[in-house]
Amino acid sequence: MIIFRSFFLTILASSSLVFSVPQDSITEENLDSVLNSQNKQNDDTVINSVVSQLNQTLSSNDKCNSCVERLLIGKTLANTRPDLVSSAFTKWCLEAKGLSKSTCIEKYGLSTVYNSSQGANFADMLVEINPLAYEGQLYCYYKESKSCPKPATPNITVSHMWPPKSPQHMVAPEPGMNGTFNVLHISDLHIELDYSVGSETNCTDTICCTPFSKNSVKQNETSSYNGYWNSFFNSSYNEDFSFSKGDLINVFDNSSIFAPATSFGNYECDSPELLINASLNSVINYTNQQNITFDFSLFTGDMVDHDAAERISLETTIQSEEYIFRDIKSRLGSIPVFPVLGNHDTFPYAELAPEQYSYSNKFTWNAELMADIWEDYGWVTPEAAQYARKHYTGYAVETRLGLKVISLNSNTWYLKNTYSYLNATQPDNFGQFEFLIEELLASEAKNQRVWITAHIPPASAGLPIPANILAEIIERFSPSTIAGIFFGHTHEDQFQILYAGSGNDTKTINNVINNAFIGPSITPWGGINPSWRYYEVDKTTFSVMNVHNFYTPLNETYTNNGHEPQWKHEYAARNAYNVSWPATSPLNGTFWHLVAEQVKDSVDVRQLYERYAKRLSPYVSNCYNSTDCDGDYCFLSTFRVDDYDSCMAALPK
Ligand SMILES: *[C@@H]1O[C@H](CO)[C@@H](O)[C@H](O)[C@H]1NC(C)=O
Ligand SMILES: *[C@@H]1O[C@H](CO)[C@@H](O)[C@H](O)[C@H]1NC(C)=O
Ligand SMILES: *[C@@H]1O[C@H](CO)[C@@H](O)[C@H](O)[C@H]1NC(C)=O
Ligand SMILES: *[C@@H]1O[C@H](CO)[C@@H](O)[C@H](O)[C@H]1NC(C)=O
Ligand SMILES: *[C@@H]1O[C@H](CO)[C@@H](O)[C@H](O)[C@H]1NC(C)=O
Ligand SMILES: *[C@@H]1O[C@H](CO)[C@@H](O)[C@H](O)[C@H]1NC(C)=O
Ligand SMILES: *[C@@H]1O[C@H](CO)[C@@H](O)[C@H](O)[C@H]1NC(C)=O
Ligand SMILES: *[C@@H]1O[C@H](CO)[C@@H](O)[C@H](O)[C@H]1NC(C)=O
Ligand SMILES: *[C@@H]1O[C@H](CO)[C@@H](O)[C@H](O)[C@H]1NC(C)=O
Ligand SMILES: *[C@@H]1O[C@H](CO)[C@@H](O)[C@H](O)[C@H]1NC(C)=O
Ligand SMILES: *[C@@H]1O[C@H](CO)[C@@H](O)[C@H](O)[C@H]1NC(C)=O
Ligand SMILES: *[C@@H]1O[C@H](CO)[C@@H](O)[C@H](O)[C@H]1NC(C)=O
Repeated sequence: MIIFRSFFLTILASSSLVFSVPQDSITEENLDSVLNSQNKQNDDTVINSVVSQLNQTLSSNDKCNSCVERLLIGKTLANTRPDLVSSAFTKWCLEAKGLSKSTCIEKYGLSTVYNSSQGANFADMLVEINPLAYEGQLYCYYKESKSCPKPATPNITVSHMWPPKSPQHMVAPEPGMNGTFNVLHISDLHIELDYSVGSETNCTDTICCTPFSKNSVKQNETSSYNGYWNSFFNSSYNEDFSFSKGDLINVFDNSSIFAPATSFGNYECDSPELLINASLNSVINYTNQQNITFDFSLFTGDMVDHDAAERISLETTIQSEEYIFRDIKSRLGSIPVFPVLGNHDTFPYAELAPEQYSYSNKFTWNAELMADIWEDYGWVTPEAAQYARKHYTGYAVETRLGLKVISLNSNTWYLKNTYSYLNATQPDNFGQFEFLIEELLASEAKNQRVWITAHIPPASAGLPIPANILAEIIERFSPSTIAGIFFGHTHEDQFQILYAGSGNDTKTINNVINNAFIGPSITPWGGINPSWRYYEVDKTTFSVMNVHNFYTPLNETYTNNGHEPQWKHEYAARNAYNVSWPATSPLNGTFWHLVAEQVKDSVDVRQLYERYAKRLSPYVSNCYNSTDCDGDYCFLSTFRVDDYDSCMAALPK
C-alpha cells in the first residue's frame, strides 16, 4: 500500500503548481457537471489516481485495514488538494462501491457553506484525523459499517476540573411545602415542508408523503382505501388559531397511489405544519380548559425532517428552523421556551465543528440565526444568547423562580458528526464540558438547583468517551445540584437511569445517581402517536413531582372527514406503574429504578412501558410473542455507551 501512496505523491508533485478554483459542495443537480467538467487535466489525473488506490483497498479481505488505508489515502490528498477529496471519494463511492447518489453525496460530498474553500466536511476530518490511532478505529467502526472492531475506550477523567464534593452536597434537598408549578416539554417536531395531501404513504423511499415519494411496485388498480380514508382536505389554521377545513382534494384520480396521504399526517411521514399547529393548539386548549399555566417550556430539538440527503439544503434547513420557532412563539406567546438543537438542526445533517478550531465559519450562520431568534422572542437573556452565538454548543439561563437551565448541543457527542472524531481522545474539544462544569460549580456554591437539557441521550447514539465524561460530571453534581436531565431524539416516551460504577451488577437501588426524562415526539414517523407532556415541579427544589402525557391517535384522522385531531390525557407517571412511592417524594432516579426493575422482571410491565413509549399506536411491539422488547431494560438502565453495548451483547440471542 505504501507503494500506491508514493506513486500518488509523485503525480501530485508534478501537478501541484496548478490549482483550480475551489469547488462548491456537490448536490444532486450539479453532481454530473462536477464529475464531468474537470476542465483541468491535472485534477482528472489526481482524481483517477486516488480512485484507483481506493479501488485497490476493496480487494483485501481485511475490512479494518482497508478502511484505515482509505483514510490514509484521503489524508494525503486532503493535505495537498482538499478541494479534490469530494470528487475523488464520490466518484469511487458511485463507481466502485455502487452506492446510491444520495448516500455518496451525504458521506463525501457535503460542506456546510456553499463556497467552502476546503471541500467537504469529510475533507476537514481527513486533515486532522490520525487514521492509525484510536480515532481512526473509532471512525471505521461507527461511520464505516463496523469495518473495524470497536476499539477499547481509553480511561479519561475530568475530575481535576472540580474540588471534591462536600458532605452537604451528598444528598438532595427534600421537596418543600410551597406547592408545584408546571413546565411543558415538546420535542422532535420534524416539519415536512413538502408534505402533500394525496401523495404516497406506502412508499419505498426514505420518507413518504412528499411529491417525490414512490412505491417501487407499480399499482394498477384503484387504491384499496378509496371510500374508507376520507380526510383529504386542503385545511389550514387562521391567524387567530381557529381551524379552516379546506376543499376536498380528489386524491383517487391518481390510480398509481396505493395509500394517499391525509391532511394531518401519517405514521410513515414527518409532521405537516398543520399537525404542528394542531399540537400546539392542543397545548393551549388544555391550559385554558384546566386553568393552568406553564412557567416555561423545554424544547429538546429536531425541527428538520428525515427527507433524503439530496433534498435537504441549507435553505430548507433554515426555513424549517424559522417556521418551527415562529409557530411555537405564536402559540405559546409569553411562555419562555428554552430550546436545544437536535442532530437534524444543522446543515449538512449532524455536522458541528469545534468553534475554537478553524471551521467556525461553516457553522456560525446557524449559531447566529438561532441565538437571534431566541433572544428576539424573549426566551433567553442577551447574555445567554451571546454565549450561544459565540460558542454554539449551549447556554445557561435562570428561570423566574431561580432554577438554572443549562442547554447543550449534543452533536458534540453524536456518532454521526464527522467532527466528533477529531482529537477523539481529548476530553473536551468543543469546550462544552468546561462550560457545563463552570456553571454547575457556580450553582453548587450558592445551593442553586440545575436542569440539564440536550437532544441525544448518549448511551445509544453517542461516542463512548464523551458519554463517560458526561456521566462523570452528572455523578459529581448529583443528587444535590442536578435536579433534572431532559432529552429527546428517540421519539419515544422513555427514561434512563445513571448508576454509580459500571456493569450489570452495579444496577442496585443504592447505586442510583440520577435519571433522564426522554420526551415524546410530535412527529408520528416510525409508527408512533404525536405527543407532548408537562411536568409538575416542586417550587422549592425544582424536583419533578409528576409527568402528565398527552397524545392524539393519528389513525383516527384518516377517517374522520377532515376534522381536527382529538387529544387525550394518556397517563400520569406517578400512578402509571405499580410502584409504592410517598406522595411527598419526587419522581427521582430511585423511583425510575423501581420501574426499570419491573420492566426487567415482568413481561406485563414491559408491554405497558412499550405502549406508553409509542403512545398506544397501532405499531406497538408485542412483547409476549416477539424479541422486540428484549433490549428495553438495557436502554432504561444504562447511560454510558460501553455499558449499553455490553448489556445488549449479553442478551440471549
Ligand atoms: C474503480 O473500480 C470501478 C469498478 O470496478 C471501475 O469501474 C473504475 O474504472 C475503477 N477506477 C479506476 C480509476 O481504477
Ligand atoms: C480502564 O480502567 C479499568 C479499571 O480501572 C481497566 O479495567 C480497563 O482495562 C482500563 N481500560 C483501558 C482501555 O485502559
Ligand atoms: C417557600 O418559598 C420561599 C421562597 O419563595 C422559601 O424562602 C421558603 O423556604 C419556602 N418554604 C418551604 C417550606 O419550602
Ligand atoms: C401491476 O402490473 C404489473 C405488470 O402487469 C405487475 O408486474 C405488478 O405486480 C402489478 N402491480 C400490482 C400492485 O399488482
Ligand atoms: C404497499 O405496497 C406494497 C408494494 O410495495 C404492496 O404489496 C402493499 O399491498 C401495499 N399496501 C397497501 C396497504 O396499499
Ligand atoms: C381547541 O379549542 C377550540 C375551542 O374550544 C376548538 O374549536 C378546537 O377544536 C380545539 N383544538 C384542538 C386542537 O383541540
Ligand atoms: C384560574 O387560576 C387563577 C390563578 O391560578 C385564578 O386566579 C382564577 O380565578 C382561575 N380562574 C378560573 C376560571 O378558575
Ligand atoms: C487537536 O488538538 C491539537 C492540539 O491539542 C490542536 O492544535 C488541534 O487544533 C485540534 N484539532 C481539532 C480539530 O480538534
Ligand atoms: C429519591 O427520593 C427519595 C425520597 O425523597 C430519597 O430517599 C432517595 O435517596 C432519592 N434518590 C435519589 C437518587 O436522589
Ligand atoms: C387506531 O389505532 C388504534 C390502536 O391500534 C385502534 O385501536 C383504533 O381502532 C384505530 N382507529 C381507527 C379509526 O382505525
Ligand atoms: C404476535 O401477536 C400479534 C397479535 O397480538 C400478531 O399480529 C403477530 O403476528 C404475532 N407475532 C408473532 C411473531 O407471533
Ligand atoms: C452480567 O452479565 C454477564 C455477561 O452476560 C454475566 O455473565 C453475569 O452473570 C451478569 N452478572 C449479573 C450480576 O447479572
